[in-house]
Amino acid sequence: RTHLTLLGLESSCDETAAAVVRAPLRDGLPEGPGEILSSVVMDQASLHAAYGGVVPEIAARAHAERLDIAVEQALEAAGTPLQALDAVAATAGPGLIGGVLSGVMCAKGIALGAGLPFVGVNHLAGHALTPRLTEGLAYPYLMLLVSGGHCQILAVLGPDRFRRLGGSIDDAPGEAFDKVAKLLGLGYPGGPEVEREAQGGDPGRFDLPRPLMDRPGCDMSFSGLKTALRRARDRLVEAQGGITRQDRADLCAGFQAAAADVLAQKTARALRAFAPEAGPAPAIAVAGGVAANTRLRGALEAAAEAEGWRLVAPPLRLCTDNAAMIAWAGAEKLAREGADALDLPARPRWPL
Ligand code: KG4
Ligand code: ZN
Repeated sequence: RTHLTLLGLESSCDETAAAVVRAPLRDGLPEGPGEILSSVVMDQASLHAAYGGVVPEIAARAHAERLDIAVEQALEAAGTPLQALDAVAATAGPGLIGGVLSGVMCAKGIALGAGLPFVGVNHLAGHALTPRLTEGLAYPYLMLLVSGGHCQILAVLGPDRFRRLGGSIDDAPGEAFDKVAKLLGLGYPGGPEVEREAQGGDPGRFDLPRPLMDRPGCDMSFSGLKTALRRARDRLVEAQGGITRQDRADLCAGFQAAAADVLAQKTARALRAFAPEAGPAPAIAVAGGVAANTRLRGALEAAAEAEGWRLVAPPLRLCTDNAAMIAWAGAEKLAREGADALDLPARPRWPL
């Protein structure tokens, strides 16, 4: 056998996604880059926008309604009949349990009906293995995962071997961006809105904290930053009865700069800590929606360059939640560990 072809399903947050991926095999093991034959992502943002965040019950219902459609579209776009697949993979956790259950049950149903193996994939492993899918990055490497729900710096040592070097002790950075947007009357998701506002702002006007920056280790905190921003806004409102457009731009710029500084500084520290194990061509990859942020990317580029590392930034559609990463991670798991039983549980929590 020269390839594994998998259908992947993702439904752990607010994206309903299905994809077909071909993983080339070398000595029986997947070796990237893989071939994405199709990748369908149905965004639920408009369903949750009015609430300023993902509502689990609404998400679960939408996944249950849309998974079949996403699968049909993915198979059709790939031109792959079910019989040509080697397995069906789905995110089995961590995530909002209603959504994870929908995806796992859908994948098990397809697998059972078509007589195919089923593979349950850890969503975080999906993100962490994405640079293997996109450019065949060799183990080991570092990964900075920054999304609305996650904030971790991981050493990726193998398909099922991860070491957590640090992460947020409270809010994920995307969550902080979303809350800041809400505080300032901007739309959801907040990250892109805050970034747009920040373009016309002065990041130095407000003295915002960089929590945990001067502490050793790679842990981070974003909730204090968000609180400081709320206080700065409240002071303005008290003094002048509201905030001007320029105030808002300056607040956004200040917040974004502080968040980027914290992430880049802690990442730089992780690079130094992992350098002895990183091999001759050390690489750090990014994933998660917050990796779209230009200021953060710039700060990470600078940190990586200063340490002699390469920054690997997969295309944004593969940094945010998608099913191609689940199909790829499923192939890596299937090749090494074989299929999962059909009674594999869906897990709301599943640390790597
Ligand atoms: O990875 P993702 O699509 O979904 C999960 O959270 O799993 O990430 C979404 C998060 C949201 O919190 C959103 O506000 C944030 O990523 N985000 C950004 C930007 N684009 C999206 N944050 C900062 N700057 C951006 N340009
Ligand atoms: Zn994710």
